[in-house]
Amino acid sequence: MKFLSLATISAFALAVAAAPANTKTKAKVAILGGGVSGISAAKNLVAQGITDFVIVEARDELGGRAHDIPFAGIRVEKGCNWVQGLGTNPINQLAKKWGLKTVTDNSDNVEFRDNHGLINATKEYNEFSDALDAINDLAVKRQKNHEVDISARTAFKLVGWNPLTSVEQAVEYYGFDWEFAEDPDVTSNYYAEVNNDSYDGNFGKDSDGNNFVVDQRGFKHIFLQEAKQFLKPNDPRLLLKTTVKNIKYSDSGVTISTKEGGVIEADYAISTFSIGVLQNDDVTWTPELPDWKRVGLFGFHMATYLKLFLAWDKPFWDINKEYVVYADPDNRGYYNSWQNLIAPGFFPQNTTSNVFFVTVTQDQAYRVEALPDAEIKKEVTEVLSSMYGKKVPEPDHMYVPRWHSDPLYRGTYSNWPIGELDQHHINMKAPVKRVWFTGEAMSKDYFGFLQGAWIDGGETGDNVAQCIKKSCPKQPYYPTIKLANEKTSFTKRQEWA
Ligand SMILES: Cc1cc2nc3c(=O)[nH]c(=O)nc-3n(C[C@H](O)[C@H](O)[C@H](O)COP(=O)(O)OP(=O)(O)OC[C@H]3O[C@@H](n4cnc5c(N)ncnc54)[C@H](O)[C@@H]3O)c2cc1C
Ligand SMILES: *[C@@H]1O[C@H](CO)[C@@H](O)[C@H](O)[C@H]1NC(C)=O
Ligand SMILES: *[C@@H]1O[C@H](CO)[C@@H](O)[C@H](O)[C@H]1NC(C)=O
Ligand SMILES: *[C@@H]1O[C@H](CO)[C@@H](O)[C@H](O)[C@H]1NC(C)=O
Repeated sequence: MKFLSLATISAFALAVAAAPANTKTKAKVAILGGGVSGISAAKNLVAQGITDFVIVEARDELGGRAHDIPFAGIRVEKGCNWVQGLGTNPINQLAKKWGLKTVTDNSDNVEFRDNHGLINATKEYNEFSDALDAINDLAVKRQKNHEVDISARTAFKLVGWNPLTSVEQAVEYYGFDWEFAEDPDVTSNYYAEVNNDSYDGNFGKDSDGNNFVVDQRGFKHIFLQEAKQFLKPNDPRLLLKTTVKNIKYSDSGVTISTKEGGVIEADYAISTFSIGVLQNDDVTWTPELPDWKRVGLFGFHMATYLKLFLAWDKPFWDINKEYVVYADPDNRGYYNSWQNLIAPGFFPQNTTSNVFFVTVTQDQAYRVEALPDAEIKKEVTEVLSSMYGKKVPEPDHMYVPRWHSDPLYRGTYSNWPIGELDQHHINMKAPVKRVWFTGEAMSKDYFGFLQGAWIDGGETGDNVAQCIKKSCPKQPYYPTIKLANEKTSFTKRQEWA
């Protein structure tokens, strides 16, 4: 079969019609969701000789959270943007294989500003860097000693980092929240360390570092190229614009009903939905998922990392600095982390498209996302005018990705919260009858990252292939999770008589 050229892959995907209403589709495996983990699951099924599958995807293209959009004359990444961890990281390998264009960015090429202009935060920045190293060491030490998890906040205080000034808080936000998309108070100290993008033990000697994708074919290009190796043009196994509404499952099979009125019957289903989706009622289950499963799913966090895209016809900022951090006097994280896309090596300065954008997370993201665009534009213009001590013009272009309220995602990527145990995570991932679960969050080592989605999706494809060819590999789960120390018991909180 002759495949279409590279450039037409998304056009070919777009050409696939939605599954007609009232149709019945049958397949051995229904892969629910066409993001990175769904593509990886399908790839491994095919490698194991299982070609009777369908990929069911609500959007009109594959890629999921790998999603570039046109903005002010260039294509920017609405979702994932960095190859995080180089070396043997499979995402790095795919980037090399398909010649993805990236730039090595440098988060130390940064300046700090408050509401009166430029400030010197070198001292705070260095102190925070040391504290971050110290809490990582602490996590390793505590784990070796079999001690229970603590929050990153508790760990920071233990190593002597207690940010009280707005500058210290701004530096911390840039070094912590800008990565995990949640603050140290809710984040696990253990898993922030385990889930380490530069962790040498996992990705080989030269793994350190991140590459920022600037490829105008989009980050998704490398995943679509992989999909093209096993999907034909107009492949009937690709059901785009098909939104899963209900999943009915038993010991013998799965029946999926779609919003468009179709039904898909499969021997096995692989859910790749984000945990944001699984924590809400966008997809319903018949029967309801068991409590042990729901506790695992509901306890994990779907964080939100909102990249507020802005562009000006004429730059007013220092175009040689890659990053600018803003310390708001009142609100931690208020329009904190700015990224300059016309820094040397990124995009050329242009008379129509100079992108300088800001990332907000967690509460700041929910707040911004809920505002009308005009209100957001007003806020950023005001904050920039105070940061630069002069009247900054309104942005000529703005795009607000609203991931948190999008029913196909309900956030951007997962974060391991304090209180979630290993057993909870195992339950979150464990199959329920004929339904298997994968996706970024299900990867214990690389949740939050593309490699988590790719590796876990592939493993799940392998497991389901075994189910079909021989018997399902046994997966552990915990019907009840008890206190580690049987002697410990909860006593009712005392009240004054
Ligand atoms: C803003 C942002 C920044 C990020 N930055 C990075 C980064 O720099 N580096 C990195 O490694 N990772 C990053 N990530 C994380 C990375 O993008 C994800 O880990 C990965 O793309 C998740 O893939 P997935 O297949 O698990 O999930 P998804 O991509 O969410 O795939 C699930 C699919 O299911 C579909 N779907 C949902 N509901 C339904 C339904 N009811 N019916 C049918 N289909 C449905 C969705 O449309 C989606 O295509 C970022 C993510 C975001 C959003
Ligand atoms: C600016 O970018 C747009 C879109 O890429 C391009 O069409 C235009 O030629 C560029 N202009 C300059 C001056 O480089
Ligand atoms: C900024 O502060 C650091 C340490 O406090 C100092 O060493 C450095 O010289 C200062 N930089 C400038 C430009 O004043
Ligand atoms: C990641 O691991 C490396 C090597 O063990 C360590 O040097 C680095 O500080 C860690 N970084 C984070 C953010 O945990």
